[in-house]
Amino acid sequence: MPDPTYVRDAFARIADRYVMTNHVLSMGADVWWRHVVTKRIKQLQPGRLLDVASGTGDLALTVQDAMPECEVIATDFCAEMLEHASSRGVRKTLVADALDLPYGEGEFDIVTVAFGLRNMGDYELGLKEMRRVLKPGGHLFILDFSLPKGVLRKPYRFYLHNVLPKMAGFLTKEKDAYEYLGGSIEQFPAGEAMIELLEKSGLQEGSATPMTFGVVTVYEAVKG
Ligand SMILES: C[S@@+](CC[C@H](N)C(=O)[O-])C[C@H]1O[C@@H](n2cnc3c(N)ncnc32)[C@H](O)[C@@H]1O
Repeated sequence: MPDPTYVRDAFARIADRYVMTNHVLSMGADVWWRHVVTKRIKQLQPGRLLDVASGTGDLALTVQDAMPECEVIATDFCAEMLEHASSRGVRKTLVADALDLPYGEGEFDIVTVAFGLRNMGDYELGLKEMRRVLKPGGHLFILDFSLPKGVLRKPYRFYLHNVLPKMAGFLTKEKDAYEYLGGSIEQFPAGEAMIELLEKSGLQEGSATPMTFGVVTVYEAVKG
């Protein structure tokens, strides 16, 4: 599991270049991934949504723009990342550890976490905290990296471990932070393994939808 101090420091160092680097490395696909999640969220017409590990606020902003009537709160334990979320227009932000959320039980219709759970020191505790702050019947959305299946798996792993850290190192001057990325994706539960973890954490109706050849997966689950 990732070390929280290392993770917070690494994101603080790359915060100024995070958004640009993401767009370049995903060739703009990250915008599409967040759009797909937002479209699904819109169908549920939430009144209050918490975006955990929101970072520079990309998902929070996409939801806020698509649903101006929804109260969107972005939290992250890295103040440097969250400052960008505020300056980019996220109306409500709060520095908070996802493993100890400063909210009561059942406060949110929806909780989202994009590329954040994988970076937490304890996946199950993170999921249990997100479940706790959801209303009964509320939905959790997880968007995160996964590994493609079949013939693409091998070349993608090569890209992840050999090409991506060099490109990201050039863009951010922080190659180490992106060497960690490949390892974190390898050990992160994906597909059925994530659905099992969701169930173990007390969430129900778990589903997994791979996108872009399985490079990312959207998970949805409900608090019963
Ligand atoms: C890869 S970034 C994702 C940011 C944003 N959600 C996005 O989609 O671009 C991961 C974020 O998770 C945050 N993070 C990791 N562990 C956390 C924790 N325990 N509590 C709060 N934030 C955490 C980091 O500070 C970082 O901003």
